[in-house]
Amino acid sequence: MLLQLCTWQEVEAYLQRSTGIIIPIGSTEQHGPTGLIGTDAICPEAIARGVAEETNVLVAPTINIGMAQHHLGFPGSITLRPGTLLAVVRDIVDSLTRHGFDRFYFLNGHGGNIATVTAAFSEIYAQCSLGTAPPDRLPVRCKLANWWMGAQVKKLSKSLFGDAEGSHATPSEVSLSYFAYPNAVKTAEMSPKIAPKGEIFDAADYRRRFPDGRIGSDPSLASIEAGEKLYKAAVSDTLESYRSFLKFQ
Ligand code: NI
Repeated sequence: MLLQLCTWQEVEAYLQRSTGIIIPIGSTEQHGPTGLIGTDAICPEAIARGVAEETNVLVAPTINIGMAQHHLGFPGSITLRPGTLLAVVRDIVDSLTRHGFDRFYFLNGHGGNIATVTAAFSEIYAQCSLGTAPPDRLPVRCKLANWWMGAQVKKLSKSLFGDAEGSHATPSEVSLSYFAYPNAVKTAEMSPKIAPKGEIFDAADYRRRFPDGRIGSDPSLASIEAGEKLYKAAVSDTLESYRSFLKFQ
């Protein structure tokens, strides 16, 4: 079930049988010479929709813009500052908590979101811990799951791409985005074949050290076929992980 395609009565009925929701969260940022700028939002959104097709779980609208300050040296990239993203996550959880949701599963597509989203969870828990939440507020639990870290996905990425996977503009994420949008497939020569590796600081530094945007990857290996396999593995990983999150007492 997609929240944006439900009526409020359908959401009210859903809450009678489940208080959990999946919230895809991504980023709008460069993904190298062949990766789509929406890659990090497209991937978790496609996976969450796949999970929704197999179960009756409710999926919220995707948070399409994340914390991507280091990509601003490349046209098209958009960032929320950490404080802004933290407030967005907190406001979404607070809104849904008011209706009775208490299990929030953020399916993440972007490594740069991890620190901020995790900090947002601590802010949310602190409202209860410090006694600043309204007295009728439900105790909530939040989880951040990175789709590319699922057991089946990791195994598959390794067998498909080995050392060419890298950490940004990876052939795995590019493949999955091509599977989701087959008409948007791009091609380009990669030079060097495998991009340099290194740490991330500000946008100008990133552009200087990773001139075409990739880190450690060779996304010319990406394909729709690989994307379909990764999609199936990710839906399966996410289903299992979401179910155990709901069961955890
Ligand atoms: Ni990415």
